[in-house]
Amino acid sequence: MTKGALIFEGNEKQVFATDHPDQVIFRYKDVTVAFNNVKRARFKGKGALDNQISAILLDYLNKNGVETHYIRTLSDQEQLCRKIEIIPLQVVVHNRIAGSLAYRLGVPEGFRHANTIVDLRYNNDDLEDPFINRDHAVALGLATYQELDGMYNAARKVNDLLKPLFHKAGIELVDMKIEFGRASDTGAIIISDEISPDTCRLWDEATGERMDKDRFRLDLSRVVESYTNVFERLKQAIEKK
Ligand code: TYD
Repeated sequence: MTKGALIFEGNEKQVFATDHPDQVIFRYKDVTVAFNNVKRARFKGKGALDNQISAILLDYLNKNGVETHYIRTLSDQEQLCRKIEIIPLQVVVHNRIAGSLAYRLGVPEGFRHANTIVDLRYNNDDLEDPFINRDHAVALGLATYQELDGMYNAARKVNDLLKPLFHKAGIELVDMKIEFGRASDTGAIIISDEISPDTCRLWDEATGERMDKDRFRLDLSRVVESYTNVFERLKQAIEKK
């Protein structure tokens, strides 16, 4: 497998072609951004941590009946992935209220609810990723109702698999964002982006301390230390399985 041309350059990631038509290389950068790319910083080692954490989680999903784009890890900051056509939607799962949802619903951060909440956002930087509903997504031609049902079900299944895995690591999975794409080889809709402390809220079950990107968003310091802690604990949890 040979690394080819750069085909996508994002803030936090690069995607390279390979000599296989249905495979690409994802490279996680040491850059982090927040608030629709307004806040930005570089953290040495963060790309490798996101790469490794995402690899653990996506591999776990692949092995438990949820198809993802992850194939295998290639190096510290790179993983081989299936090529997909992006579906510009974010399916957001909440197990506890945090972040902007607290403002939207007028409840304090940390508010507990018995049900799982699933939100849908249109992945569009110019519009600042607005919340939309299924009808909007179908109207824009982003997916069919049947495909949206599949994405919602997959998101709930991801949550049902990852919540206990994080719990085993002493970490509460508060919320997470999931993206999907159409696989170029089979056309199946599969999970197609990282799942990491950049895309989840993760709270230490013992101390309540934040272990995710909120450390950067809220200037809480020790970003790389927290991501390292998540990685070490997840690695142990997965080995115990
Ligand atoms: P959400 O409640 O939609 O937004 P906010 O960050 O304003 O509270 O986010 C829930 C989770 O999804 C949170 O862990 C951050 C993550 N997320 C992303 O990774 N990328 C995004 O573009 C958005 C909007 C959220």
